[in-house]
Amino acid sequence: MTRPIAKAGVMSIKPYVGGESELDGRDDIVKLSSNEGAFGPSPLAQDAYAKSAAELHRYPDGGSTELRRTIGEIHGLNPAQIVCGSGSDELISLLCGAYAGEGDEVLYSQFGFLMYAISAKAAGATPVWATETDLTANVDALLAAVTPRTRLLFLANPNNPTGTYLPANEVARLRANLRDDILLVIDAAYAEYVVKGDYSPGIDLVDAGDNVIMTRTFSKIHGLGGIRLGWAYGPETVIDVLNRARGPFNVNAAALSAGAAAIRDQPFTAHCRDENLRVLAWTYQRLQNLGLNVTESVGNFLLVCFDNDPDRSAATADSYLKENGIIVRNVASYGLPDCLRITIGTDQEMHRVVDVLSRFMGKNSE
Ligand SMILES: Cc1ncc(COP(=O)(O)O)c(C=O)c1O
Repeated sequence: MTRPIAKAGVMSIKPYVGGESELDGRDDIVKLSSNEGAFGPSPLAQDAYAKSAAELHRYPDGGSTELRRTIGEIHGLNPAQIVCGSGSDELISLLCGAYAGEGDEVLYSQFGFLMYAISAKAAGATPVWATETDLTANVDALLAAVTPRTRLLFLANPNNPTGTYLPANEVARLRANLRDDILLVIDAAYAEYVVKGDYSPGIDLVDAGDNVIMTRTFSKIHGLGGIRLGWAYGPETVIDVLNRARGPFNVNAAALSAGAAAIRDQPFTAHCRDENLRVLAWTYQRLQNLGLNVTESVGNFLLVCFDNDPDRSAATADSYLKENGIIVRNVASYGLPDCLRITIGTDQEMHRVVDVLSRFMGKNSE
């Protein structure tokens, strides 16, 4: 008997496992496993979402016109160079499908976001990674990994799950030394959290040529992961490709309304950024005081690495945190079995994390 068989690339995918959200028998869970915004969505976005309910029988505007206009206004960008997607995941997948296929390579850095490899395989292409240095993308290693088959290079800046970033001059050096026909995708999902003077989300590089695209998301600082919304800013030629490849109504009506309200609420965004900076610095220091190996992060999460002593390992810490109602992200699937990724939550949530890890390490965090 024969049956339908999917393409080999698709069958080689190890399905993405999202952050856990439930623990049996507990109703006081602190969920710090998916880098969701600590303060949820802006009240203005919640209102806009609720108002969209009465119109849900209508198809959404397939061109995301009003949302693109709003993004353009807030970020000073030409709306014609913006495309919206059902999460930036969709845009990553569309880019792989449109620019890479059988025999092509999609390049990213060692601990780069998992969806690059998954989307490359789904497109039939071969994912290739380049070694990082100190958990940070290495431009020379990326350039050395380029082959005649390379079509796309994904750079998460800052990167998830490490929280590290490349300064603007390093990203510019990467672009300058890449073949012109390789599309550089700068995934700036966490850009709004970064306050470093030498950081750029990549808009300047998009404007400098026709082979860089920047992706952004509403899932992190804007707290809208549940409605799936992302956007990309790129050269009109690349935006045209994505508009051809995407579904006609790829962004739902509620997301269009809530997204526009969220991005207009700049005081809320600034509050989320400032609080994250404060709580991130506090948590970093406290975890360091416990003798843990914490990577400096510019995002809304910390990569925390443990000993391989079984009593103090990442797996044992993960179980202990769960026993105490705290869910963080096991990052073994990223090749980091000794580490956990902890999203920065509210003050109260991070005090709970530090208290539990203090007990786990048998040390005082102060
Ligand atoms: C670096 C990076 N890019 C993209 C995404 C996907 O975001 P979205 O929810 O917009 O699909 C994430 C989500 O965790 C991420 O960490």
